[in-house]
Amino acid sequence: MIYTRIYHASDLQLKNVREDIRNTILSGKNIVFPTETVYGVGASALNLSGIANIYKIKGRPSDNPLIMHIADVKDLDLYTKNHQTYVKKLIKAFWPGPLTLVLEKKDQVPKVITGGLESVGIRFPSSHIAQEIIRIASVPIVAPSANISGKPSATLFEHVYEDFNQKVDIIIDGGKTEVGLESTVLDVTKEVPIILRPGMITKAMIEKVVGEVIISTDILQQDIPKAPGMKYKHYAPKAILEIVSGKEKKVIDYINIQINSLENMKVGVIATNDIIGLFDTPYVFPIGKSTNEEEIAANLFAALRKMDSLNVDYIYSISFEDKKFSEAIMNRLLKAADNNITYL
Ligand code: TXA
Ligand code: MG
Repeated sequence: MIYTRIYHASDLQLKNVREDIRNTILSGKNIVFPTETVYGVGASALNLSGIANIYKIKGRPSDNPLIMHIADVKDLDLYTKNHQTYVKKLIKAFWPGPLTLVLEKKDQVPKVITGGLESVGIRFPSSHIAQEIIRIASVPIVAPSANISGKPSATLFEHVYEDFNQKVDIIIDGGKTEVGLESTVLDVTKEVPIILRPGMITKAMIEKVVGEVIISTDILQQDIPKAPGMKYKHYAPKAILEIVSGKEKKVIDYINIQINSLENMKVGVIATNDIIGLFDTPYVFPIGKSTNEEEIAANLFAALRKMDSLNVDYIYSISFEDKKFSEAIMNRLLKAADNNITYL
């Protein structure tokens, strides 16, 4: 068991805290910290025991590669090579920010990071806390989302405390993460970039900068995974989750009929603020205004984790299709539901 030190963002100014962070990372131990997307559990990209320990404490399969986080664009050339010409444009448009670029790796990048692949995912986060941690350590930091493998990603301090207290040396409490869904993962090793994981940097946004963009078919068909991470059980709440899609009134009626027929069960509902009061159960999570998709995205993982803490037996969620960010939101929600969706 490890004694976990918890620091706040403002503590990063303190000399002894900075030293503790630096020593912890450089000696191959682990730190949980916020980024603008979700919390990450990090280690020095150059320390094999720190990296191995991430896989162990997350319970993560070893062929699922990690993203390397940098705080200076210059580091990109230190670790990757043979860039397509459009890569510069993407960096100019979206870095720092929630876009991970998968590039050909140089030999310096240990294969334990890449799950044996010749490519590596690199991200320059916009979060000032994340940037500061990388600068304090003065090495790139590999960090998968800070959740036990299979659970929803963590967007609140409470989530990471639950999953990693006494398992890592340091947790940085940065409050609620702003974006709430993990970065868009974009394979830029080919002439046409391929979205391996949709995120809040959407296909349309990327197309505006580089022209043609492909969405990996693996995202659409669940069976043949390309981003190694996409093949595993993901974001799963403890209870069965069913997404209900259709006209609003029909969806509300359907869910209420189910709630009333599941008499002795605790049934949870995830829906937008404007309709959340219409369900016949006290176990509800208002996910945001129906007109505010950023808010819905930011609250999705918290909604799933809230349902876990309420110990419900069954969860209904309304569907979030036909929206600007539905690519990313529905990708996570469908995975959380194991594709259990009812169309009315
Ligand atoms: O927003 C984020 O990306 C967060 C924060 C902490 O930065 N990190 C994150 O990491 O979501 P993780 O490990 O939970 O998800 C990384 C995804 C996985 O699906 C992985 O398979 C994919 O990126 N990935 C990483 N390197 C790759 C590579 N070389 N080729 C293909 N996919 C890769
Ligand atoms: Mg993850």
